[in-house]
Formats: sequence, C-alpha cells, structure tokens
Amino acid sequence: MPLDVYDKIMMLAKRRGFIYPSFEIYGGSAGFYDYGPLGSRLKQNIENLWRNYYLLQDNCVEINTPTITLYEVLKASGHVDEFTDITVDCKKCKQSYKVEEIIEKNISIEDAFNNDKVKCPTCSKNLKDPYPVNLMFSTKIGIEQSRDAFLRPETAQGIFTNFHLLYRYGREKLPFGVIQVGKGYRNEVSPRQGIIRLREFSMAEAEIFFDPKDKTHPNFEIVKDEKLYLFDNEKEMKISLEKSVKTGEINNQALAYYMYLTQKFLMSAGVDPKKFRFRKHASDELAHYAQECWDAELYSERFGWIECVGIADRSAYDLSSHINSSKTDMYAMRKYDKPKIMKVKKIVPKMGVLGPLFKDKAGKIQTILENMKVNDIKKIYVKINDETLEIPKDCYNVVEFEEKQIGEKFIPHVIEPSYGIDRILYCILEHNYDEIKKKGEEYRILKLNAHISPIKVGVLPLVSDSRLIKIAREIDKNLRDAGIATYYDEGGTIGRRYARMDEIGTPFCITIDHDSIENNSVTIRDRDTTKQERKKIENIIKFIRDKISK
Ligand code: ATP
Ligand code: GLY
Repeated sequence: MPLDVYDKIMMLAKRRGFIYPSFEIYGGSAGFYDYGPLGSRLKQNIENLWRNYYLLQDNCVEINTPTITLYEVLKASGHVDEFTDITVDCKKCKQSYKVEEIIEKNISIEDAFNNDKVKCPTCSKNLKDPYPVNLMFSTKIGIEQSRDAFLRPETAQGIFTNFHLLYRYGREKLPFGVIQVGKGYRNEVSPRQGIIRLREFSMAEAEIFFDPKDKTHPNFEIVKDEKLYLFDNEKEMKISLEKSVKTGEINNQALAYYMYLTQKFLMSAGVDPKKFRFRKHASDELAHYAQECWDAELYSERFGWIECVGIADRSAYDLSSHINSSKTDMYAMRKYDKPKIMKVKKIVPKMGVLGPLFKDKAGKIQTILENMKVNDIKKIYVKINDETLEIPKDCYNVVEFEEKQIGEKFIPHVIEPSYGIDRILYCILEHNYDEIKKKGEEYRILKLNAHISPIKVGVLPLVSDSRLIKIAREIDKNLRDAGIATYYDEGGTIGRRYARMDEIGTPFCITIDHDSIENNSVTIRDRDTTKQERKKIENIIKFIRDKISK
C-alpha cells in the first residue's frame, strides 16, 4: 500500500527529531509519543504563540496547578460519574471499541444499537451490550492513610478550585480570564489514531469568567465585522461575528469572540484556512458541563475532520458544584451604583457551643451558617461530605440588623476555549508539508510559519575554508545571542544542506562565501521562494527579526 501523508510525516518526524513513539525499545504503548529536540521547540513555539493571544491580547493571567488531582475535586466536577466513553467489545477479536468511533457520523449511539448498526471494524460481526468506561487514570496519594486521586483529565479544574483567590487577585472585576498550559490524561479505550488520540497529551485551556447578565466582551466591537467559518452540521457558512450573535447562531458575544480568537491563532500558527471550520455540537453530544459548544476542526487526509479545540459555554456548572461540595465562598459581586441599606437577618454561630459539639466540622458549619439565607427558621440542616447534620437551636442566634450592601452575590459563568496542542501541531505539519521532485529525487519542504519554526536560520559556510568558517561561527553566535534559534552546518554540498533545512521547516539560510571576506556581506535564502538576497552582515539580525515577526 502506498504511504499516505500521515505515514510520510510521522517518518519525517521520527528521522528528523520531531516526534518518536514512546518506550519503543520495550515494544511501545499506544497513545504515548515523545517530542524530540525539534518537536519540543515547535511545541513550545506553538504554546508561546497561544500565550501571546491570551496573556497579551486578551489580558488573561496564567497559573500552574498539579496534574494529580484529589478525588473530591473530580467528584464535584462530575468527572467521576460522567466522564465516560460508551464502549463495546468484540468477543471474537478480543478488542474493545469506543462506540462513537465505529458508528456512522450522523446516527446516535442509541439508534445504532437499536438498528443493529454497530459492527466490529475487524470481523464485521454485529456488536451488542455497550457499557460506560470512565476515562480517568486513578491513583493514590500517600501510602497508609492514602487519599484517592486521579491524573487530571483537563487543566480547567485547577483554575475553578482557585477561583476565589484569583478573583481577588484580579481586583474582583469581570470578565476575568485565567489560562493553564499543561498535561491532561485520559485512558482512551482504544487509541488507534497515532498522535491524534493520546493517553497523555498537552492542553492549553482558558477559563474566562463572566457575569451571566452580561456576556459581552470588551473587544467585540473591534472585531465584530470579521468573518467566522461555521458548519452547523448541514451547511458551511462564512458569517460575521455580529451577525452570528444577532441571528442566534452563536449564543453570545463572549463565545463568538473566543471563537474568533481561536480562528486567528490557528491561522497565524499556519493552519490552512481551507482545512478549517467551526462545528456546532448537537445537543446529544454536549459534555456533561456544557450549555453550548463549538469545535474548531482541522482537516487531515487520513482522519478527516479532527476536533482540535472545543469552545464551550460551561455556564455556572463548575463553580456551583465546587461551592456546594467544598462550602467555599466562590461568589462574585455585582456592585450597586450606590450602597443600599437593607434589613437583614443573619445567623450568628455560637462557637462556644458549636465547637465542642461538632469538633473538626465546626469551622465548616460556621461558614455555612454565616452565609445562609434566613427567612423563617424552624430547623437548620447542614450537609458536609454527604452527611446531613441537624444544628441545635442553642448553637446560634438569629439577629436582625441593618446592613450596608454594596452589591449582590452571584456565581459567574465560564466560557472555555480548550486546545489540544498535539493535534494542532500534527495538523500544522500536515497542512505545511510539501513534496516536489528535484533531480528525480523526492524533496520535502515543511513550509512552517517563521514564528513557529523550531530553527529560524541555517548558517552555512559555502566551503570548508577557515576564513569562511570563522565568519560563519561569529554570525551564528550573534544570532543566538539575539535570541534567534540557528543551526550551524558545514557538512556536505550546499544543496544537501539547504535540503536538510527545508525538510525541518527552517525559513532562512545564510550562506557565507568568499565575497563575505571582501565586503562583509552574505546571502540570505528564503525557503519558500528559494530566492537569495545579499545583505550586509551588520543588518542580518534586524532583517531576520522583521521577517519572523511578520
Ligand atoms: P474526542 O471527541 O476527540 O475524544 P473530546 O471531545 O473528548 O475529543 P475535549 O474533551 O473537548 O475533547 O478536549 C479538549 C481538547 O483536547 C480537544 O479539542 C482535543 O484537541 C484535545 N484532546 C482531547 N482528547 C485528546 C486525546 N486523547 N489526545 C490528544 N488530544 C486530545
Ligand atoms: N476542558 C475541556 C475538556 O476537557 O473537554
């Protein structure tokens, strides 16, 4: 069978140090890949470009939280009960399959089983008896008195569980965005799609908190006439942000704005606009926390349309769950224009009685009582870790007093753009892979955008002459000192050296020749046009910097 573009790219990736299958010397394991020297740089460049959009353009802040996550967090978030894939086994082939992957695209899982449309992809036997499989890797923290935990399936929960601290850090203003870049883990049922479906992968997630009464975005006005590429599961359309919100195609400004930011980021990272679209989730495919979701999908020759980014309106789902489970005050405040004087009833806990009676739970009970809405109180019950406790009357007083209120509390809503960096990186390689014939031989070029290429400049002395080598070494060092990644190469014919640089996506090659000794100039070759320009050595850094920043 001839190699397809996936095979060709993965072979190039392995040969040239982008991506290797993990643990290969022990037979490998599906769903795990290593990034080699060039792959690591490329990934870092993509992540940093992403950071530019969110940290600089959108003014978010970045945090880092553990990848090992307590059971309680993921119980509250719904992942323990809901983060499952419907799976089916073929007893004959002794294989398990994620049902979604082996049924037709436009049919629901239920209909597929009811109409005998679930077949084993290997032996074509009818498959039955689907069951849910939780995708989280579980672990324990500690040895004897251990606590249950999981490897995080998303970075988002680390942001939600810190919301009260971050909100204060952000001076209690909304909208307010927090990002996290890091690993996510999912024990995928049967990862057969190479680097597209990993069990450990890199995510870049943003959680932007909004007042639910105001899901507008301060930058919307500037970009409202820009066009989005939408696919509503029937037809594709190119439509402005403003129109998409007006017609209700996209629920709110905030969602439309982050879709636009995503489109802009992906295009500037080198995605082919013809192989890009946003697809709206049908109501039966929404995640357990999502109210509306759009996937940014990228087209790949082998896999078809791949979800690379999910942009969801998670509403108040996560913060409500964590407030209920942890009893922490994670509310935001909608300030009044002028403070209001209100008559309020409050519960004032008597810690002298509560303490001895409820011991280590007394602190949590105190917080719950102090935040409780008080109308006509007969009996008070408090729920702590699934245990319901009755609080006796002598544990508190109900006091009425006048209070100056500066605003009302509410639970913010969240818009979440969630990016899978590995899938994006693969698609960028595929969309920028070009193959031509040169002197009867296959010649490969990766037309990566200069700002994400792992190496920006190849530095090549034309021939092995010590005078040229001295100049070349100096140019190489100066470029690296200026923060520009280079590759110095003096081995082989100049044609071979250009080919090596073209194959790894290096946008420029500087060649030092005998004229360089005479007049302090070099040639700079552009990968995509193969044109060469002569430049003074002193102008190289500025020239390259300008090109990279374009
Ligand atoms: P899929 O339907 O392909 O399983 P998903 O809907 O579970 O994906 P999300 O939960 O929305 O994906 O995750 C956010 C992003 O993380 C995805 O858009 C994707 O880019 C990435 N991602 C999810 N699962 C994987 C995986 N197993 N390997 C690599 N990237 C992944
Ligand atoms: N945080 C989005 C997801 O995991 O789907």
